Amino acid sequence: MLEHVQEWLSLLFRWFHVVMGAAWIGTSFYFNWLNNAVREPETPEEGVGGEVWSIHGGHYYKVLKYINAPPQLPAMLHWFKWESYLTWISGAALLAVVYYMGAESFLLDADSPFGPGATVGIGIGALVGGWIVYDLLCKSPLSKNRPAFAVVGFTLMVAVAFGLNEVMAPRAAYIHVGAMLGTMMAWNVFFVIIPGQRISVDFMEKGEVPDPKYGLRAALRSLHNNYITLPVLFIMVSSHYPSTYGHELNWAILAGIALAGMGVRHWFNLTDRGEKNVWILPVATALILGLFYATKAPERTPDAAASTQVSDLAALSIVNERCTPCHSANPTNPAFPAAPNGLMFDTPEQVQARRVDIVAQSVDSEIMPLGNLTGMTPEERALLGAWLAD
Ligand code: HEC
Repeated sequence: MLEHVQEWLSLLFRWFHVVMGAAWIGTSFYFNWLNNAVREPETPEEGVGGEVWSIHGGHYYKVLKYINAPPQLPAMLHWFKWESYLTWISGAALLAVVYYMGAESFLLDADSPFGPGATVGIGIGALVGGWIVYDLLCKSPLSKNRPAFAVVGFTLMVAVAFGLNEVMAPRAAYIHVGAMLGTMMAWNVFFVIIPGQRISVDFMEKGEVPDPKYGLRAALRSLHNNYITLPVLFIMVSSHYPSTYGHELNWAILAGIALAGMGVRHWFNLTDRGEKNVWILPVATALILGLFYATKAPERTPDAAASTQVSDLAALSIVNERCTPCHSANPTNPAFPAAPNGLMFDTPEQVQARRVDIVAQSVDSEIMPLGNLTGMTPEERALLGAWLAD
């Protein structure tokens, strides 16, 4: 019953998280596009810095962008904040249900140095600590030097990815880096962007012209959020791709993909502003191709001698010992009353039917057995690989 509650909670939070994330990123991409796409107004108007025309869903729209603030506050002003708050809240709930309630299975692995409590503490510490360090950096003189800020921020992120990987299961480490970056984005909205806008509106309600510094402060955070979006989305979907998080150098792969993602975002920003750039996309593409080759497992040519040496019996007994405690019609591991993902390896046919996945998860990478809870040895992985290559 408890596991079923956990599964449904995680399903509902995940659904909600994806929906809110789509709403948030949708508005964020739209406003970033607006900022870049506005052009000199056709008919100049007091205080207006740019305008943009668009057509969508059969209607024409004209948007004006004010240099600082409009002459009067309109009766209705839309803020766009709940999308980000609810994305963060549902993400935090999902993290808690999957990785903290299921810490033994999903947060820890066989060589985790600390127990579940301490590792959960480290995970939460990374989210909160990451924000504190980032926020201090934004308030330091470093933030004025954009390239230096980007290099320092990026290096710190990679260091966190490396460090978390030492204490958590690799997939949990990836998700925590994503959650840390997502926390920076959502807390930017909550602690800096919305309060800055509140101050600006307060000025206007008193009939005063707002100090533009609050707007500029919010704009810097909004720009950071813009560049962080693509890396965060990659990290969130990577949990389905063991050749990324399951690689020995998974922190370097995360760094490479993050770099490519930020590059692509930069290209969009330049293009929307009407600036040409020829090298960013080819470099990002080369980087992804490089990662493709770097993550490719060595070709396994069926070695007739080796594979005939692995008898069906030997291979199946490995599966039986290391996998079926969970992947079975009747799992013996109490944490999994039903076979995870519906995958059962009770018969040779069931094993052969999923050979590609099994090689990816248990031979080319060491993602399965989950957290190596059943203690599979490297020799067993090689034997299973040889048998499956047959
Ligand atoms: C301790 C329990 C446990 C053991 C032992 C275990 N698995 Fe899994 N396995 C899981 C869980 C949980 C998932 C689902 C992970 C998810 O989707 O989040 C899973 C998923 C998988 C998947 C599907 C991954 C996907 O993306 O759909 C494969 C393939 C797999 N396991 C193979 C194996 C093999 C092969 C072994 C033995 C060498 C093994 N597992 C041992 C718990 C286990």
